[in-house]
Amino acid sequence: MRELIRINQPFLGKEEIDSAVEVLRGGILTDKSGMGPRVLDFERNFAKFVGAKHAVAMVNGTAAIHASLLSADIGLGDEVILPSFTFVGAANAVMLSGATPVFADIDRETYCLRLDSVEESLTARTKAILPTDLYGYPADLKPILQLGKEKGIVVIEDAAQAHGAMYDGKRVGSIADMTCFSFYAAKNLTTGEGGMVTTNDDEYAQTLRMVRSHGEQRPYWSVRLGANYHMPEIAAAIGLAQLKKLPSFLEKRRHNAELATEKLSMSGKLILPREDETRKHSWYVYTVRARGVNAAKRNKIVDKLWAKNIEAAVYYSTPVHSTPFYRSSNQVRRGKLPETEKASRQVFSLPVHPRLSDNDVEYVSETLRKAIA
Ligand SMILES: Cc1ncc(COP(=O)(O)O)c(C=O)c1O
Repeated sequence: MRELIRINQPFLGKEEIDSAVEVLRGGILTDKSGMGPRVLDFERNFAKFVGAKHAVAMVNGTAAIHASLLSADIGLGDEVILPSFTFVGAANAVMLSGATPVFADIDRETYCLRLDSVEESLTARTKAILPTDLYGYPADLKPILQLGKEKGIVVIEDAAQAHGAMYDGKRVGSIADMTCFSFYAAKNLTTGEGGMVTTNDDEYAQTLRMVRSHGEQRPYWSVRLGANYHMPEIAAAIGLAQLKKLPSFLEKRRHNAELATEKLSMSGKLILPREDETRKHSWYVYTVRARGVNAAKRNKIVDKLWAKNIEAAVYYSTPVHSTPFYRSSNQVRRGKLPETEKASRQVFSLPVHPRLSDNDVEYVSETLRKAIA
């Protein structure tokens, strides 16, 4: 039997190990304002990679979103529009800020937030829109940013899965008011746990740095609410080594995704992921929809893949609004979410990470074709 093909897997080498060991030898593990030498270097290089003016490192992606909300002065009484078809971390960050998450529906093909559903969800209390670049595919940012501009609403992009994705020829991270990344172990670039906010706005960048450090303007002088969201030096050192490799990782992900499309395109039973002219994927995962099935049938297909040692994954079988905590919370609001409900029953994701060979991708595709035959 083949070794388990994981849905995603860190791709680490000598460079990451040497970089981490250097930090241990040097003895500087962190900095009291979260601005150690590796963190600053990682921030500079990450900002350059995405084409943003500033990058502010955080301890993880959830903290990055929470810090962004706090930096935009979002709190009690405010509403934040976001998809329910996303990772719960985004909604939790909104709850932690004290604001009300308002769940809007997604586009049938891209699984990203849909403009008309966002518009229907707007109220006088809407303070932010938080679109997710789901599976690594950018949300339709232009009309959302336009709407934000017209209404004076901040757009905070959740790009936790989208390092390297492009919108209108620009890298995600250089477009929205603030963009949040995660460097969790499964992500396109990992530091174990880690996060980053990028922005072109000087004021947001300065505020994010304070929020990351208990709202301190200088030591023991808190001028606003914050937390300890510092990224450790060892994580930044690993991130620096990973960042150098990210372009080659992305190339390999794209290669694997294109190979999967080639191998699966003959099946009329699957709807495959697509890109359009303006939006380019980071191929965090390769997500397909089984046409016309219910959740039980979809789960059977996934089980068949698991039986052949392929870690197919269902992101997200339970949309956030249907989880017990959010169902029982009276701090949330939602409109009608038919596409969210439908997608949660029909989608599943396949691995295309850079450690996979052509043979692995062919094996995954062939096994899936047999499973749905
Ligand atoms: C879409 C999305 N948002 C937010 C997060 C939160 O990031 P983290 O796990 O680093 O806190 C993740 C990652 O897990 C994610 O996939």
